[in-house]
Amino acid sequence: MNLKILHLVFLVATGIVLSAQGSSLRKIPLDQGWVFNPSDDPAFADVGLNDETWRPIRVDINWDAQGQKELIGYAWYRLRFSLPKEIRDADKLKEGVLLALGKVDDGDQVFLNGEFLGQNGRTFAPGTKPPEFRTGPWDLERVYRLAMDDPRIKWGQENLIAVRVANPNGAGGMHGKGSRFMRLVGLIDFVDFQSDMTPFTFQGNEVVKSFDLVNRSTSNAMTGTLIIEAKELVSGKKVIQNRKNIDIAPSERMTVNLQLGQREEACGISYQIVFKDGETCEYREESPYILTPPAPSSPRINGATLFGAKPGKPFLYTVAASGDRPMVFSASGLPDGLTINAQTGIITGTTPARGTYKVKITAKNAKGEAVRDLEIVSGDRLALTPPMGWNSWNCWGLAVNEEKVVASARNFVEKGLRDHGWTYINIDDGWEIAGASPDPKRDGDGNILVNNKFPDMARLGRRIHDLGLKFGIYSSPGPLTCGGYTGSYQHEQNDANSYASWGVDYLKYDWCSYRRIAKDTSLTELKKPYEVMRDALAKVDRDIVLSICQYGMGNVWEWGDSVGGQLWRTTNDIADTWESMSDIGFSQVDNAPYAKPGSWNDPDMLVIGWVGWGPNLHPTRLKPDEQDTHVSLWCLLSAPLLIGCDLTRLDPFTLNLITNDEVLAINQDSSGKQAYPKIKEGQIQVWVKDLHDGGNAVGIFNLGDAVTDFEVNFEDLGIKGQKKLRDLWRQKDIDLLKGKHSVRIAPHGVVLLKVI
Ligand code: GAL
Repeated sequence: MNLKILHLVFLVATGIVLSAQGSSLRKIPLDQGWVFNPSDDPAFADVGLNDETWRPIRVDINWDAQGQKELIGYAWYRLRFSLPKEIRDADKLKEGVLLALGKVDDGDQVFLNGEFLGQNGRTFAPGTKPPEFRTGPWDLERVYRLAMDDPRIKWGQENLIAVRVANPNGAGGMHGKGSRFMRLVGLIDFVDFQSDMTPFTFQGNEVVKSFDLVNRSTSNAMTGTLIIEAKELVSGKKVIQNRKNIDIAPSERMTVNLQLGQREEACGISYQIVFKDGETCEYREESPYILTPPAPSSPRINGATLFGAKPGKPFLYTVAASGDRPMVFSASGLPDGLTINAQTGIITGTTPARGTYKVKITAKNAKGEAVRDLEIVSGDRLALTPPMGWNSWNCWGLAVNEEKVVASARNFVEKGLRDHGWTYINIDDGWEIAGASPDPKRDGDGNILVNNKFPDMARLGRRIHDLGLKFGIYSSPGPLTCGGYTGSYQHEQNDANSYASWGVDYLKYDWCSYRRIAKDTSLTELKKPYEVMRDALAKVDRDIVLSICQYGMGNVWEWGDSVGGQLWRTTNDIADTWESMSDIGFSQVDNAPYAKPGSWNDPDMLVIGWVGWGPNLHPTRLKPDEQDTHVSLWCLLSAPLLIGCDLTRLDPFTLNLITNDEVLAINQDSSGKQAYPKIKEGQIQVWVKDLHDGGNAVGIFNLGDAVTDFEVNFEDLGIKGQKKLRDLWRQKDIDLLKGKHSVRIAPHGVVLLKVI
């Protein structure tokens, strides 16, 4: 193989981190020495309990990765450690100690020396009885803060931490690469870099940001030096080097302004505070950039070129076309029963008899005309290209309501996303009446009732359809959804009928509490609830895409198609971290042969833009280069593309990520093939997807933390006789020299190419 990898000298941090250091904090590491028991007993919190027979366990990776696959329910972790009195004596601030335990999937209760300490990262006062145990935010770093004289701490003695973990589904246990420790609370714990909640903006082409640095201490001033450094990640070019003295009074703030100028790549930025007493803390982030030129003002037809529908059912397909409005649409070869709206490009009517219909779509405006073929396949299969849309879960979680859904639909149109093929507006969990509510969950006929956030589902369906978009909904085959709302168990036909009457086009059907109904995890039991819903959907007068969600159990990709699914989740839930996104994305290999038009592996939804899984959102924690990797990889994988962010807050970088038609065309390619990793060399992975036109999409990914040079020889990828090479993010042709191409890739970044 003719490959060359060169690691450049400068390393950058992974992800946005707030690192804190200072020997004055007397940190005791708690990463090693944990023991584990996969059962549940309140006595496991007791100090006197003999845990010598418990098995040792790692706490940086979940228990599934350590021989406890599919452990659903409760399990306990314990750790003994000694706590020198010297730590207490060294405390100057009198602000107490921190106990950091990493992440826990899904929820934790913590006991210190036999006493209840807290739950899901929240500390409770000594003597408090454990509250009702709810599973928690599985991706949150658990940090408990305690007063120095908290009676639960035993200074100068051995201490015992016992962690009770609840895992209702999927992977479980303590996990996360961050460290676990106990240490003094320091000044660094009061620094609030509000940069994480303040995205960069573009002033003209210049990248700028202004954020507050807040001192959260009510009694101590923040006195020291603030050092700001920024340099381009790939070129290494220094952009800012700046140091100034700071003295921020208790509860006060100072504004930091950052001007990075015009950039075609990310800058790595470090803000470091060196306090007078020697403690330091650092916050790092990376700046966004715009790679893709704007779409031309003349018409360009985008989106799927292949569309499947079932004979005799209502038909809806919207021509996605970018370019200036007004635009006039027409279609030749449209089968009887279908008409195109000349102003909007929305094709409606009744799906014709079985067969393949070749249609020519034309879009015209003052600047020109575009013509493109569309193949309408009337038959048994839906979703012939991966569904593209929005889903409420990664942003609003259970705080979703009708207004937010309508705002998303409007933004699809107003921000031009519909013009790039974005179609589905999907409500996830949280629209149904709560399962625990004393109100009736169903009417006298067994029809499901909605909660007061969704007063009129049929109206919502109409509002979505009027915009030429499609309407998705969520349920569980069990009695309850994962969020505790009413599921479809034993009312599957009622629910399918309700969905049809509301105009639903897509159902995500999530296993959740069905685990209580399934007799075991045999294939028959895993398939059963999806077969029931498939049959119910077959009886209604609409095309409803069935999205199977059961986290990949029983290799669902091998049989998801046979139980009526068009897509199936292959993994547990994604989070907006490099760890989560890259673990999921780069492991989609065994399922690749099963991807084809109408059958898609679903590695979960996109985590770009403002996300939050609840009422309070934050900008994704993925860095810009990681987001390029995320979107490029999902396109190569032919994964369903469901944006999971607040569409009312789309910054130019995020918009650029989801409106590059050449990148999206890789995802929507009519061949329906999934990419394979063809080269794994050091931290470089090269993934190749076959395209319908005989070309290949090639993603060269750098999974490492260092800028890396790489030379790809296309023959090594099995690609022969290629003539043209194009950089898809930049939409630029590249000279191809002797079948080879050299790239320099940012940490966690990608170069996405098309070779033909
Ligand atoms: C999870 C599912 C998520 C979301 C959530 C709703 O099981 O994986 O994607 O749908 O349930 O409660």
